[in-house]
Amino acid sequence: MLLVGTETSDDAAVYQISEELAVIQTVDFFTPVADDPYLFGQIAAANALSDVYAMGGEPKLALNLAAFPNCLDIEILGEILRGGADKVMEAGAVLAGGHTISDEEPKYGLCVTGFVHPQKMWKNYGAEPGDVLILTKPLGSGILSTAVKGELAAEKEIQGAVKAMTTLNKYAAELARGFEVHSCTDVTGFGLAGHAMEMAKGSRITFVIHTEKIPVLSGAQEYAEMGLIPAGAYRNREYLEEDIESRICGWREDLLFDPQTSGGLLLAVTPEDAGKLMEKLSGLELPSAVIGEVTEKQKNFLVFI
Ligand code: CO
Ligand code: CO
Repeated sequence: MLLVGTETSDDAAVYQISEELAVIQTVDFFTPVADDPYLFGQIAAANALSDVYAMGGEPKLALNLAAFPNCLDIEILGEILRGGADKVMEAGAVLAGGHTISDEEPKYGLCVTGFVHPQKMWKNYGAEPGDVLILTKPLGSGILSTAVKGELAAEKEIQGAVKAMTTLNKYAAELARGFEVHSCTDVTGFGLAGHAMEMAKGSRITFVIHTEKIPVLSGAQEYAEMGLIPAGAYRNREYLEEDIESRICGWREDLLFDPQTSGGLLLAVTPEDAGKLMEKLSGLELPSAVIGEVTEKQKNFLVFI
């Protein structure tokens, strides 16, 4: 029986096999977001695996999806696949083959199958008034990528962004599994605003986001203030704007629409659990933060303050 399909724009499809077992299925691939092929492989794999974690599940099986130009050195493809394989292994899943086609621009990603208990699945709706919102990675990877393309980003800033993008959401998800998670998604191409909007709309409530509490990648403020905003951020803003009440402006607002690659988890948990979960998350390498709360439905689904 299909538990999660396309209707709720959730992170992955979920199909129930038995009372105790449901399979999660997801696929994601894209063009290089890093110059180093090994790092690109890691980022693409971490991003694809993330949708399984965002459903509360564990990845079990992965297949490579790759596109590669004939004119490029085949060793580059080898490095991309090695990066992906390392992340799949770190996830505790099995990489069992895949498919590569010839194409003008390299592309890489994974098709991932995961397991979850049908009753313990995290949906992208179900947040309740009073819930606290936790984000488990800093924002700004789209802005940083734009700065890298403009050859403006400093080495340390690039490393910070790469660290965030290659880190599996596995670690935050494992800690959150001990608590009552009302709703969860991962923050990717639609930015924090877009993914928060899906959760808020699906739950028919309002998310109040305290924007100054959001962790930010080093350099993102500076480059956003310089106007290094990716095109996707403008599209996200245009698409979402009318459902948002924003009391802020400038770079902090741009950051909310910034498309993320392999971004963190956005979790809605009870206020009782939030403190305990934050205590655990503070032991991880990347900064997590309480970034807002859920209220009864107001005029708009999202409020930025
Ligand atoms: Co997702
Ligand atoms: Co996805």
